[in-house]
Parts: sequence; C-alpha cells; structure tokens
Amino acid sequence: MDLKLKGKRAVVTGSTSGIGKGIVKTLASEGTTVMVHGRNKTQATKVAEQIIAEGAKASITIGDLTKDDNAEQVASEALQRLGGIDILINNAAAYANHRWTEAIANHWGELYNANVLSAVRMIRLFMPYMKKQKWGRIIQMASGEATQPFAFMPDYAATKAALVNLTCQSIKGVGQYRNYCKYYESRHHCDPRRRTLLS
Ligand SMILES: NC(=O)c1ccc[n+]([C@@H]2O[C@H](COP(=O)([O-])OP(=O)(O)OC[C@H]3O[C@@H](n4cnc5c(N)ncnc54)[C@H](OP(=O)(O)O)[C@@H]3O)[C@@H](O)[C@H]2O)c1
Repeated sequence: MDLKLKGKRAVVTGSTSGIGKGIVKTLASEGTTVMVHGRNKTQATKVAEQIIAEGAKASITIGDLTKDDNAEQVASEALQRLGGIDILINNAAAYANHRWTEAIANHWGELYNANVLSAVRMIRLFMPYMKKQKWGRIIQMASGEATQPFAFMPDYAATKAALVNLTCQSIKGVGQYRNYCKYYESRHHCDPRRRTLLS
C-alpha cells in the first residue's frame, strides 16, 4: 500500500498499546518517521524496537498528557527528534466503566481532562509548526459513542462528542490551514462550504 506518507513525521499519542500501536506501526511501514508515545516507557521502547527491527524509523517520548508540563515535554522532544511534525494523531484516551449513579462530577472532569484537554494541549503545541510549514494533518480519535452512546460510560461518551465538536470547530476556526477531517465533514456536515475544498 502506498498512502503517500513516505518521509512524513508523525506523533501518535497513546501508541504503546491497542489501536495507537496499530496506527504507529502502519504509518512506519508506509515510510513515516514515527514517535511512539505513552506513559509506559518499557512498552513504548518495545513498540519502537519492533518498528526499527522491521527497517523503519521510530523513537519514543514519555509523558502524561493530562498535565501541561508533561505535554510540553512530549511536544518538545518530538519536535527535536523528528526535526518538526507533519501528522498528529490524538489517540490517547482513558475509559471508566461508570454508570450515571457512579459517575460523580469529578469523574467527568478527570475524563474530560484525559480525553479532550490532552488533545487540545497537543493541538496547541503542534499547530504553530504546521501553520509555519503550511502543511499538517491533525486527527482526533473519537468513537461511535460520540453520537450513539451506550447505556453506561456517560462521561466517556461525552468526551468523544466533545472531540467531534472541537474538530468541526477547528475546521472553521483554523480553516485557512485546512485542519479538516473528511469523516466529520461528510457525516456531521461541519461546514459544507469547506467540502468543496477537499479532494
Ligand atoms: N477500543 C475500542 O473499542 C475503541 C472504540 C472506539 C474508539 N476508541 C478510541 O480509540 C483510542 C484508542 O483506544 P484503545 O482501546 O486502543 O486504548 P488503550 O488500549 O487503552 O490504549 C490507550 C493508550 O493511551 C495511552 N494513554 C492513556 N492515558 C494517557 C495519558 N493520560 N497520557 C498519555 N498517554 C495515555 C496509553 O498509554 P500508557 O498505558 O503507556 O500510558 C495507551 O497507549 C481511544 O481514543 C479510544 O477512545 C476505542
């Protein structure tokens, strides 16, 4: 497969396991230089070593994105090691198997910080570099729960809806830089005028 990603530089948050690990390995196999990220250094190192063993380029950065200083450190290390950034995939997230009776307001706040503000931190830290080079892609990992929530995990589902909303907003708010997402544009009709600019 040639996704035309050879030579690009990508940060995939939460790529020490699960879907993020799959994304980072796929990008690397396409010739993208990747930054494996998470809080677990052992696991991040293992993923990076697997990628390097297959002949691709990877390094790691460790940090808890719920904290401003950690997010700044992650961005700074990524920019230094990659020499810039082309693609940011905001994949890191936390789950909580709460129901309405269990999810106190603090739980909602904690998940909002983990799943929404973490992405906001990374967007704010990387967007200036993408603007400067007049090229960049920022992808949020949402969920079907954004629009069709389960009977449980109300706090988690709400964070995913917020991610869809902020992505739609960014299309308008930073529109001249074409920070878009085709999925959201076509499925949620964020801004039909911008659809004509995509292809
Ligand atoms: N799995 C599903 O069925 C499903 C469905 C729809 C959408 N999604 C979305 O897809 C994404 C990945 O899901 P997944 O199931 O693959 O998750 P996962 O296996 O639980 O992995 C989560 C990743 O995020 C990292 N992470 C979590 N909190 C973090 C924090 N505060 N700071 C830094 N890194 C953090 C973890 O790294 P460390 O452990 O190293 O900290 C891990 O690499 C999420 O956004 C999720 O909401 C998943």
